Amino acid sequence: MSGVTPIMSRPIVTLTQHIHEQQRRFPVATGDLSWLLSGVALATRIIESYVRRAGIAEVLGEVGTDNVQGERVQKLDLLANETILRCLGYREIVGILVSEEDEEPTLVMQPSDGGKYIVLFDPLDGSSNIDVNVSIGTIFSILRCDENDQGPDSAVRNCLQPGVRQVAAGYVVYGSSTVMAYTTGEGVHMFTLEPSIGAFVLQSENVRMPESGKTYSVNEAYRDSFSRGVQDYLAWTKTKEAGGYGSRYIGSLVADFHRTLLKGGVFLYPATAKNPSGKLRLLYEANPIAFLAEQAGGVATDFSGRIMEKKPDSLHVRTPLLIGSKNEVERVMEFVGRE
Ligand code: AHG
Ligand code: MN
Ligand code: MN
Repeated sequence: MSGVTPIMSRPIVTLTQHIHEQQRRFPVATGDLSWLLSGVALATRIIESYVRRAGIAEVLGEVGTDNVQGERVQKLDLLANETILRCLGYREIVGILVSEEDEEPTLVMQPSDGGKYIVLFDPLDGSSNIDVNVSIGTIFSILRCDENDQGPDSAVRNCLQPGVRQVAAGYVVYGSSTVMAYTTGEGVHMFTLEPSIGAFVLQSENVRMPESGKTYSVNEAYRDSFSRGVQDYLAWTKTKEAGGYGSRYIGSLVADFHRTLLKGGVFLYPATAKNPSGKLRLLYEANPIAFLAEQAGGVATDFSGRIMEKKPDSLHVRTPLLIGSKNEVERVMEFVGRE
C-alpha cells in the first residue's frame, strides 16, 4: 500500500536516541540537555509506576498539610516531588530546582561550580483528580543560570526569567497511556511509554496544533466572576451562529492542554473572584505549556499579552491563561477587546 507507512515498519526511536539526534542536528540541544531530559524521563517513569498502583501502593489521599500555595497536599504530590528531587538533584549540571511544592528553591550547585541549569516543575498536576483515577501529569521547564549573578540571593533572581528564556520544556500525562511531549525550541515531539521495556518511544515529531477547533475548556462554575468579554464569548459559543461548540474540562491542565494540542480548541483559566491573578502558576505551569503551544503553532496569552514575555516577580506568581488554537484564541480576544 503506497504512501501509508504501516505501524509495524515505523522505526523504533527512544527518547534518549531522539534527544541525541536533536543535539547532533541542533547546537541548542547540547549533551547537557540530553542528560537533564533523561533525568526527567527517569523521574516520570518512577512516578508513573506509583500512579498506576496508587490504590494499592497506599499513596492516595491527603498528607494532612497545606503547601506554599495554600492547597491540601496529596501523598502523591509529595512522592512525585521527592522523586524528581532525587533524580535531578545529583546531576552535576543542575544548579537550582524549583518545585510547586517547595516555598524556596533547592540549591544543588553554584553556576561557577557547573550548576548551569534551573529545572522548574509541577511534580503532580491535577492533584484533585488523583483519588478518582482521572488523568494527571508532571510539567517541567528548563532555564539556564546567569553565571554572572553570584550574589547572596542570586538563586531566586536567577529563576525569575521570562518564558522566552526557556531552553526546554515539556510534560508527561499519566492517562490511558503515559505520553511525554517536549520541545527544545525545534518543534514538539511526543513519546509513549512502552511499559514492557520502561522506555519512552517516539510517537510523533513536530506535532502541530490545529489552527481552529470548536472545543472550549473552562471551569464554568466560576462564570459569574469572569470578565464581561469572557462571559460574552462563552454565551456566543452556545448560539446557532457559532455553529456547534463542545465543552471539555478535565481539571488537570496537562490533560486539558494535551487534548487541545492534538484536537485544537481553547483552554481558559481567567482571573476569578477566588483567584484574582488567575490560579495557574507562571513559572512551572503556564510558561512550559506556552512554549509547547507556540512551538506547535498555537498561542498563549494572559488575556492581554504573550505569556512567555511576562517578567515573573516571584517564584510562585500566578497568571490568567488563555491558550490554544490561533484562530480560537483570536476569537476569544475579539470579545475581550470589546469590554
Ligand atoms: P495542581 O494540581 O498542580 O495544583 O494543578 C491544578 C490546576 C490545573 O491542573 C487545573 O487546570 C486547575 O488547577 C483546575 O482548577 P479548578 O479545580 O479550579 O478548575
Ligand atoms: Mn498544576
Ligand atoms: Mn501540582
